[in-house]
Amino acid sequence: MTLKVKLATAAIWSSLISFGKGVVLEDAASLSSSYDFVIVGGGTAGNVVANRLTEDPKTNVLVLEAGPTDAGVLEIQVPFLCTHTTPQTPWDWNYTTVPQPGLEGASITYPRGHVLGGTSSVNCLVYTRGAKSDYDRYANVTGDKGWGWDSMFGYFKKSEKFTPPSDRHNTTDEFNPAVHGFNGFNSVSLPGAPTDIDGRFNDAIDELGGVFTRNLDTNSGEPLGFGWSQAVIDGPSGTRSSSSSGYLSPILRRPNLHVLVNAQVSRLISTGHQAGKGPVFTKVEYRLNGKGPLKTVQATKEIILSAGSINTPQVLTNSGVGNSQTLKDLNIAPQVDLPNVGENLSDHPIVTLAWLVNSNGTYDDFNRNATLQAEELQKWRTTRQGVFVNGISQHIGFARVPDFPNNPASGTDSPNYEIFVSNFLLGNTPPTGNFLSISAIMLTPGPSSRGSVRFNSSDPFAVPVIDAGLLVDAKTDVPLMREAVKSILHLVSAPAWKDYIIGPQSSSQPTLSSTDKEIDAFITANSRSAYHVVGTSSMSPKGDTKKGVVDPDLKLKKAGGIRIVDASILPFVPAGHTQAATYALAERASDLIKADHGL
Ligand SMILES: Cc1cc2nc3c(=O)[nH]c(=O)nc-3n(C[C@H](O)[C@H](O)[C@H](O)COP(=O)(O)OP(=O)(O)OC[C@H]3O[C@@H](n4cnc5c(N)ncnc54)[C@H](O)[C@@H]3O)c2cc1C
Ligand SMILES: *[C@@H]1O[C@H](CO)[C@@H](O)[C@H](O)[C@H]1NC(C)=O
Ligand SMILES: *[C@@H]1O[C@H](CO)[C@@H](O)[C@H](O)[C@H]1NC(C)=O
Ligand SMILES: *[C@@H]1O[C@H](CO)[C@@H](O)[C@H](O)[C@H]1NC(C)=O
Ligand SMILES: *[C@@H]1O[C@H](CO)[C@@H](O)[C@H](O)[C@H]1NC(C)=O
Ligand SMILES: *[C@@H]1O[C@H](CO)[C@@H](O)[C@H](O)[C@H]1NC(C)=O
Ligand SMILES: *[C@@H]1O[C@H](CO)[C@@H](O)[C@H](O)[C@H]1NC(C)=O
Ligand SMILES: *[C@@H]1O[C@H](CO)[C@@H](O)[C@H](O)[C@H]1NC(C)=O
Repeated sequence: MTLKVKLATAAIWSSLISFGKGVVLEDAASLSSSYDFVIVGGGTAGNVVANRLTEDPKTNVLVLEAGPTDAGVLEIQVPFLCTHTTPQTPWDWNYTTVPQPGLEGASITYPRGHVLGGTSSVNCLVYTRGAKSDYDRYANVTGDKGWGWDSMFGYFKKSEKFTPPSDRHNTTDEFNPAVHGFNGFNSVSLPGAPTDIDGRFNDAIDELGGVFTRNLDTNSGEPLGFGWSQAVIDGPSGTRSSSSSGYLSPILRRPNLHVLVNAQVSRLISTGHQAGKGPVFTKVEYRLNGKGPLKTVQATKEIILSAGSINTPQVLTNSGVGNSQTLKDLNIAPQVDLPNVGENLSDHPIVTLAWLVNSNGTYDDFNRNATLQAEELQKWRTTRQGVFVNGISQHIGFARVPDFPNNPASGTDSPNYEIFVSNFLLGNTPPTGNFLSISAIMLTPGPSSRGSVRFNSSDPFAVPVIDAGLLVDAKTDVPLMREAVKSILHLVSAPAWKDYIIGPQSSSQPTLSSTDKEIDAFITANSRSAYHVVGTSSMSPKGDTKKGVVDPDLKLKKAGGIRIVDASILPFVPAGHTQAATYALAERASDLIKADHGL
């Protein structure tokens, strides 16, 4: 999704915007040699834990973040510019997958946030929680009721600060306040500027019936149906809410918190053995600014590993935690034999369809006309209104494929796919034309659609070998995705779009008269990742060392001193985008950690 226009004006504006009130450290001079907790990765989950643990002034915490500060970066702050934050930017790890057999052998770009806030600083802001049964399934497969919906619902609310939309329009009929939190740290909002397609979309849902029912709020745990998109935007300031802006910025002045950026952790070091526990890890080794010498810092209570679904397995591998034989082959001394480190990766495939439309009211020009973009940026800066307060989609819906044999969905009321609508071409913007795009995410990959994160070098800073496992389970995934594509084609056939849609953007795009075979060919040729990577350090029942990497309390199995808190612990990908789940799991993890240490 590279966009043609470079944000030439960004540097000028950046210097004008002050961000945050506290201090993010860029060198190690003022660090202590030891902290109660050292958090590896100042990303989505890591910053939640940093915030919650430092609520107690006697507990001190160090966050080590490999990437730079997000302070003053306009591409990160402006919701509409989310597609400019990756790939191949200073805030991206710039990963690529190995060739994906399910995608006709394509190697695909695989962005991850390399910046304070992690992937919450670079994602496209969509806020979805998934289905109740996704969480009840986590409870079932871990044997811990605390991961079930009834418990996690409280953590969704605890993390959330629902805010009025930027344009302060009346939102009474657009969401259900009863299922939201209003006092948390992560801001969520409804669209803050109207688009030309709002009326047509709502009319189309009412005209069609079938799976196209209305859902006042798809974040209630019962997502089936269509409604307004919610996004991690602070409405009043029209700004992205990331874990940095939301959870860290307001508390940076706490004297018991140190945040060091440009600090990449190589490995965790065990300094002793505890009976019945295995090695106990107490030291964290890292480098600053991408170069030596390696430094170490001590964690007296716990190391919290929050490096994300790709890099958490990397730090574990470097630390001798993984498949012992594989580690030996890499010349890494095995410390803890846990063969599932980096295995069982699960992700969502996404495919986008687009149409040329008879309107000048789409957002395409903002992605290709530098003058217009600069004008709109100035408007955003001075008024916090207009197109740039919106994310990539204002309309979203979830549907289930009826009577699908061995449906991999977590429960009978949970969806198989999501559809979201964009008022512009989501993808490379052509020089001319106005577009409508509708994307389908297949939310329930079949059991064999599992990838991995592996390593082919003992260099702790080497690039991981990533297999996203997309559409591997072709017998399950492709037919489910086909139903999603058919739903999109059905959606655009509604009378509401008459006189609006001119025709498909590409002649290879399926139509209602396409055969299943033609639709499937389009899917395998055009699907990419939604980047909802989970499962690489999965939870499994307490004491089960055959499956999984962490116990349900998120402590590393067969070892002491390490707890993993990030999206990698989820055994299945939820039926939605993954950040809401990540914030909620990090809130629960913080409570588990506090309880263990009497905080
Ligand atoms: C392009 C893109 C768009 C997305 N869009 C959406 C969306 O619209 N809605 C949604 O809900 N989800 C979306 N997601 C997914 C979602 O953002 C992630 O699932 C979630 O943010 C992951 O959080 P995390 O805490 O597990 O990892 P991260 O947020 O990635 O945090 C990991 C942190 O650790 C740091 N780190 C890594 N290795 C080291 C090391 N060795 N030493 C020190 N620090 C290290 C990283 O730099 C990073 O800051 C998107 C993802 C991508 C990539
Ligand atoms: C990713 O690529 C960009 C652009 O080339 C570069 O600035 C950035 O440093 C790279 N990220 C990493 C982690 O190397
Ligand atoms: C959880 O397990 C119970 C008991 O086996 C079962 O009835 C229920 O359907 C399961 N729920 C999910 C979501 O897996
Ligand atoms: C907002 O809309 C609702 C429902 O349409 C209406 O009942 C309410 O009076 C409106 N509120 C305001 C402040 O206009
Ligand atoms: C779009 O703008 C052009 C130039 O201003 C105008 O001629 C045309 O009628 C407009 N089209 C629509 C559909 O509004
Ligand atoms: C780009 O936008 C500017 C400002 O709105 C406008 O004057 C100009 O005509 C546009 N350029 C093109 C090529 O459409
Ligand atoms: C190791 O994996 C990386 C990432 O996929 C790749 O770029 C590199 O060529 C591989 N090296 C070897 C020796 O296989
Ligand atoms: C992969 O995850 C699934 C779902 O939790 C589980 O059934 C399976 O056993 C896992 N495989 C391994 C090797 O852990």
